Amino acid sequence: MTGFVLLRLAEIAAIALFILGLHFLSSPATARFGNRLAGAGMLIAIIAALAPSHGYGWWAILVGVVIGTAVGLYSALKVKMTAMPQMVALFNGAGGGAAAAVSTVQYLLWERAHNTGVQLDVLTDVSLVISAIIGAVSAAGSVIAFLKLQELMTGRPVTYRGQQFVNGIVALAIAGLAAWVMITLGIQPTWAYGVMVALALVLGVMFVLPIGGADMPVVISLLNSFTGLAVAITGFELRYNLLIIAGTLVGASGTMLTVLMGKAMNRPLRNVLFGAFGASGGMEVAAAKGGQQNIRSVTVDDVAVMLAFAQQVIVVPGYGMAVAQAQHSVRELADQLEKRGVTVKYAIHPVAGRMPGHMNVLLAEANVPYNQLYDMDDVNPEFARTDVALVIGANDVTNPAARNVTSSPIYGMPILDVDKAANVVVLKRSMRSGFAGIENPLYEDPKTAMLFGDAKSSVDSLVSAVKAL
Ligand code: TAP
Repeated sequence: MTGFVLLRLAEIAAIALFILGLHFLSSPATARFGNRLAGAGMLIAIIAALAPSHGYGWWAILVGVVIGTAVGLYSALKVKMTAMPQMVALFNGAGGGAAAAVSTVQYLLWERAHNTGVQLDVLTDVSLVISAIIGAVSAAGSVIAFLKLQELMTGRPVTYRGQQFVNGIVALAIAGLAAWVMITLGIQPTWAYGVMVALALVLGVMFVLPIGGADMPVVISLLNSFTGLAVAITGFELRYNLLIIAGTLVGASGTMLTVLMGKAMNRPLRNVLFGAFGASGGMEVAAAKGGQQNIRSVTVDDVAVMLAFAQQVIVVPGYGMAVAQAQHSVRELADQLEKRGVTVKYAIHPVAGRMPGHMNVLLAEANVPYNQLYDMDDVNPEFARTDVALVIGANDVTNPAARNVTSSPIYGMPILDVDKAANVVVLKRSMRSGFAGIENPLYEDPKTAMLFGDAKSSVDSLVSAVKAL
């Protein structure tokens, strides 16, 4: 078999593994396997890229592999689950930056070739300019997303009058320069290309600045689709099928995820991108109003009795469980209840927490059996047959205002029907609101009892109390 055929076979194998990996990632039960398949595909792709017939400098690829492996291993082992969104932002930024860097090298090579009389082809010309722009926007935008999520800068939307107009002017300037660079590639001075890339970086920053920190997961997913697109276009530039397909897979899945998140939050994408959600400091405003009446607070012992003598308990985890890192304690509580013959199920809202699959990942980390995790549509009919809905650090995803308060910012968002259960117990620290910055009428429902405190310490106390019964 010739080297050429081997190389093609390796590329096909890598592509097949990427596609299968994505397929298996769609369920928590098979996600680890899917991740390994995609990883194996990437390993094959890297080995294929080292093949001498490609003509890329193998030592440069090896240096990249060593640095990438070291950073990847370190972050996989060290980065906390709650810091995952910002890590994804950084990785995504690296992808966009890599696409822009490859295009810049290509640009400089073509410019040199043109000076020695070599004809430039249109496909390379157009694709290198477009991938440089999209890659630069994605890289710079991802860095701002990282800074916001890591709280190294304000998470509030940074807005000013005429912002969209200024952004529009910058985008137009980039388009003008891009056209000029494409038409005169090799003839015009290099600075035009440099200014175009620099403006694309500025646009990336200005695009993400007006978006609030809590909306960052949606933005990262969108930037992820940009990176995929930039990588796919880089594939055309380098005539490298593997990059085209891998980039398309990333771009398509990023786009689908963005759309799905928007749907689950009942917010159109333009509202996420241009709505400056949270600019007024919704959380503080709602908290300061302190308008909620008839709140019933209970003790750990009351809740322990309620849970221990229930037939069915549905745990509803939310962002607060992630903050408190209460997942292991929750699992322990479920074990104790099951020992007493209580059926325990977990209700997973698609946008509970702050990133896609946030609750699935946390509960998987605590080895909660996958067959106890129920998607919203499957679990909602169950609440009417449930003795206790145990809401752990979830707020917006349980807010009945989404059903009938037309003026509510979450009106129309599908929610978990916890208020249909015989009893509702809510674990949170205070009466502060959640992400949407609004009051939750669930807390005024006579069926609802509030157990105030950090979710982890409350659940730990519940475990001891149930054991003692
Ligand atoms: P939220 O509505 O944000 O509510 C979380 C609640 O957890 C807060 O009310 C907070 O109340 C409580 N909490 C925080 N730390 C806690 C701790 N240590 N112990 C106990 N409680 C704690 O969360 P949710 O119900 O999961 O809803 C998610 C929201 O985020 C939705 O509005 C969704 O649209 C939005 N969002 C989601 C995503 C994705 S992809 N998941 C992306 C962007 C936005 P206290 O401060 O009183 O404790």
